[in-house]
Amino acid sequence: MYPANSVGSVVHMFCVKIMSNHLLRLWDFKKEQLVSYIKRALELKKESREGTRHQQLAGKVIGMIFEKPSTRTRVSFESAMYGLGGQVIYLSGRDTQLARNEPLKDMARVMARYVDGVVVRTFGQEVVEELGRYSNVPVINALTDLYHPCQILSDIMTVLEVKGSIEDLKIAWVGDGNNMANTWIEAASRIGFELTLACPEGYDPDPAILDAARKEAVKPISIVRDPKEAVKDADVVNCDVWASMGQEDEQDKRVKIFQPYQVNEDLLAAGKPGMTVLHCLPAHRDEEITDEVLEGPQCVAFDQAENKMHIHKAILEMHLLGEI
Ligand code: CP
Ligand code: NVA
Repeated sequence: MYPANSVGSVVHMFCVKIMSNHLLRLWDFKKEQLVSYIKRALELKKESREGTRHQQLAGKVIGMIFEKPSTRTRVSFESAMYGLGGQVIYLSGRDTQLARNEPLKDMARVMARYVDGVVVRTFGQEVVEELGRYSNVPVINALTDLYHPCQILSDIMTVLEVKGSIEDLKIAWVGDGNNMANTWIEAASRIGFELTLACPEGYDPDPAILDAARKEAVKPISIVRDPKEAVKDADVVNCDVWASMGQEDEQDKRVKIFQPYQVNEDLLAAGKPGMTVLHCLPAHRDEEITDEVLEGPQCVAFDQAENKMHIHKAILEMHLLGEI
């Protein structure tokens, strides 16, 4: 240990300073803060459509550590950062010393001396939590096995564009109780909308997340087994792959179990007329969603994909400039 009041102790305190300016899960934020990301993203989207050149992150650099594949999240974060005048350093998992078991707490403190923010896609939520504990620059969760917070912000932004509001809507989730489902549950509780999830038995969302969310929810958050019950009176239905990244070995087994949970024309007919269909992509056509529905007029998957870039701009701006 460093002696009290020495320069060393100040340096040590700096190294382990815990910063709360991270985006690790939606639960850490109040409704007003979640809404402020979306409001800012809508402004930035409008401004970029009008040709405004943004430079508010000029001179800033983010590091992106991705231990799982990505098309949308990677490209939209990179494009967002460049679009605000900043720079990006991309590191795939195997390019860092993490692949050779460098402790996360060392990685976090080293990265924080080079960059102004770290965007991480990894397996365990505990990885982003540990990086957050030791990083004194913002750590942004770009997907873990437990959550996908940035995605759900862009999905809610898309719902607001299409429906005008969300608090009075019923949102349905059909399929696996995965990272996306867990994040929708936290969003439903914090923002205050009704959410019904239809999952096969054994594939429910995380029970601790569900319990905590229900305790604070102002609208019902329900789990059912029948997808048609979930979409009854629903304004929006949401789906995702049946086997997430890291579950490839379970693909064949899951395809059989999840077959009744396919989002197809039959399921759309059981929802409200004009029910909006969300899919975060990538999609397995004719597995969790039919090609016809994905390409149909009710599906806004490509708007969701675009909105990821605008939400990421808002997130980077607000976290790197300390506005949240
Ligand atoms: N929706 C999403 O996160 O897509 P990628 O895996 O391509 O980033
Ligand atoms: N649940 C999916 C989301 C992909 C964006 C996965 O984790 O693979």
